[in-house]
Amino acid sequence: MKIVLVGFMGAGKTRLAPLLAQKLRLHHVEMDDMILSRSGKQTITQIFENEGEAYFRKLETEVAGKLVDSDDVVIATGGGIIDSELNIQHLKKGGGKIVYLESSFERLRERVTLDTSRPLFRNPKTARRLFEQRCPRYEKIADYKISSDRKTPEELCSAISKLVATK
Ligand code: S3P
Repeated sequence: MKIVLVGFMGAGKTRLAPLLAQKLRLHHVEMDDMILSRSGKQTITQIFENEGEAYFRKLETEVAGKLVDSDDVVIATGGGIIDSELNIQHLKKGGGKIVYLESSFERLRERVTLDTSRPLFRNPKTARRLFEQRCPRYEKIADYKISSDRKTPEELCSAISKLVATK
């Protein structure tokens, strides 16, 4: 089984992945961590600031390629994973199921407001535009969609476990 969590920054992918993996007895991987270790930088912000977003996206696609044959895994992606069709092809290969953690922009904003680790969420106006561009794409590629606004990570975990078991 390969479960791929997608959604905008602040949707809770990183927090959920290890919990879901534990519940389903799978491994979990955090794509941003894999990107960081390939980059030799300390933070995602450093990659964006020193090398530029295009370089970050290149590493992101390389990492998605590394995960083509992964199995028994829950993958937490970064919010921009859907900007490349190739990324999605890589992650869907081998039966990867895409779970979209949907959230309102207001809720996402509350969650990431005090967090400086996301270069693309520094300006709320730009972030909202990005959110509006990306939402239809998350919808389109998702096998399952679940609202994360009013659920605890544990509730989300149970709901997703049921979803993936029934289809
Ligand atoms: C990004 C989301 C981030 C990280 C990078 C770019 C994006 O991950 O990959 O800052 O383009 O939305 P999270 O979604 O885990 O914050």
